[in-house]
Amino acid sequence: MENNAVLAVEAHGLVKTFGRNRAVDGVSLSVPTGSICGVLGPNGAGKTTTINMLATLSKPDAGNVKIFGYDVLRETHIVRQLIGLTGQFASIDEELTAFQNLTIFGRLYGYSCKDSKRKANELLEEFGLGDAMGRSLSKFSGGMRRRLDLAVSLIARPPLIFLDEPTTGLDPRTRTQMWRTIRDLVKGGSTVLLTTQYLDEADQLADDIVLIDRGRVVANDTPDGLKRSVGSSSLHLTVKNADNAADAARITECVLCARVRLAKASELTAPMDDIGKLTDVLTALKDAGITLSWINIFQPTLDEVFFALTGEGSKDKKEENQNG
Ligand SMILES: Nc1ncnc2c1ncn2[C@@H]1O[C@H](COP(=O)(O)OP(=O)(O)O)[C@@H](O)[C@H]1O
Ligand SMILES: [Mg+2]
Repeated sequence: MENNAVLAVEAHGLVKTFGRNRAVDGVSLSVPTGSICGVLGPNGAGKTTTINMLATLSKPDAGNVKIFGYDVLRETHIVRQLIGLTGQFASIDEELTAFQNLTIFGRLYGYSCKDSKRKANELLEEFGLGDAMGRSLSKFSGGMRRRLDLAVSLIARPPLIFLDEPTTGLDPRTRTQMWRTIRDLVKGGSTVLLTTQYLDEADQLADDIVLIDRGRVVANDTPDGLKRSVGSSSLHLTVKNADNAADAARITECVLCARVRLAKASELTAPMDDIGKLTDVLTALKDAGITLSWINIFQPTLDEVFFALTGEGSKDKKEENQNG
């Protein structure tokens, strides 16, 4: 059988409304078997609502989803056997310890008693949960639960794994560990769809990125394609005299052939795909008699990606709602 003949996920025109809020507003995406798809977006963009519909946890108001060719609404029971989902773990037992829970999962998935204990020990160590192995799940933090969920998917190894913000709130070391595990899952033949608020995470892991904002797909590209459209780095300049900011923006725009944004009165940011152009920018500004007080180059932030693609920043939906 050809591996890519059937898409792991194929969704068309998904819509979900909560009252008057169109949380997901016509999302289409497809994920080839054996790949990692990163659904990237700010808080409130509709990532969780989307993933819940893909994973049979919530019913779309419109649109359709096929998982390995099976319809999520008509063939739900088959789809559920093909997917692993973070968050399902709590369904075992909150009062049992992490070790006991993992061992039970091992037994459920066909390991012998001895092997499931060994596996549970290994996984708890690997995920930095060794010290907490005797603690009941009810005393686990959100971050610990997410790590345990991922440990479970390593036992179950379902063909398709959904991970909703697997590394949000984790320390850098554990985060890197999670990334390694996710890559291993894919090497082992699984397909992964994950959501994230972090551009670098999507860049590190995903074969394809679906960028969503306010319930809509803003861009769908490879990490390299996305970076080409926004520049691989972001130039930040502060002019000494705020009166020069507009001129500085115009000149920088000209040299970089990119959209420059005035972040504050005297600070501007611009996407830059070639750091070599920095000298050109500085020379042009100097020739125009503009003095800088500060300069730096960063990785572009998610907000800057949105600006480069849509001409406006990303909107944190909760903030927007709060402001009326
Ligand atoms: N169960 C719900 N009831 C009402 N509104 C919801 C519910 N779930 C999500 N929303 C709203 O839908 C929007 C998208 O939320 P969500 O999918 O959780 O975003 P994300 O996961 O990208 O942070 C937000 O405005 C959120 O407040
Ligand atoms: Mg979410």
